[in-house]
Amino acid sequence: MAGKIITIAQQKGGSGKTTLAAHLAVAWSQKRGTRVAVLDVDPQGSLGEWFEAREEHLGDAADNISFRTASGWGSRREARNLAKDHDFVIVDTPPKSDRDARPSIEAADLVAIPVQPSPVDLWATEPTVEMAVAEKTPAIIILNRVPPRARLTEEMAVAMRDFGAGSAETRLGNRIAFAASMGQGSTVLETRLSAKAAEEVEALAKELLKYMK
Ligand SMILES: Nc1ncnc2c1ncn2[C@@H]1O[C@H](COP(=O)(O)OP(=O)(O)OP(=O)(O)O)[C@@H](O)[C@H]1O
Ligand SMILES: [Mg+2]
Repeated sequence: MAGKIITIAQQKGGSGKTTLAAHLAVAWSQKRGTRVAVLDVDPQGSLGEWFEAREEHLGDAADNISFRTASGWGSRREARNLAKDHDFVIVDTPPKSDRDARPSIEAADLVAIPVQPSPVDLWATEPTVEMAVAEKTPAIIILNRVPPRARLTEEMAVAMRDFGAGSAETRLGNRIAFAASMGQGSTVLETRLSAKAAEEVEALAKELLKYMK
């Protein structure tokens, strides 16, 4: 059976797509025997930089994660090919252009849409949600960089209910540990710079499994 394809998309730049891609990859790869592929469709290549730093820092240590790149139009084919011999294929897409994200959304079993808790950022998710709806692919909005005790976050949660996409119960806090870990080619699951951050990622990785068709 083919593995699951999870496409991370959101036109708004800096919403946390690449951070989420890396963290989900590591979270799912930690289960023994699970093969994970990450596919970088963003020509900025941030996920590739993370992966190269990771290879350097892991040295000869085993990793269940493989890395590929694809152009926007080539990503559907590449994702489906990778799904033949990986349990999870995580696709990181570029900001701004929905044309480049569309093929990866077509191939997806689940579209994960990170959004920072601001109404403007929520509006920016609309085209992505529409593409997922057109493909009948489940889409899930994930609140990222959530500050502690923000009233706006609750207002966002309410606004998200009428959005045509589900929203994840688990939220990721605004924690420096995410950026610091990524910079080392690692994740909060491995650096343990923040136990809270690690808990959030573990809960989110588990929760997302429920939404895959
Ligand atoms: N939960 C978080 N807490 C703190 N910082 C975060 C969090 N998530 C992401 N960041 C930081 O926010 C910045 C943008 O994150 P990231 O590169 O993952 O976003 P992106 O959506 O992939 O951006 P782009 O649209 O440019 O591809 C980075 O500096 C990253 O370290
Ligand atoms: Mg990115």
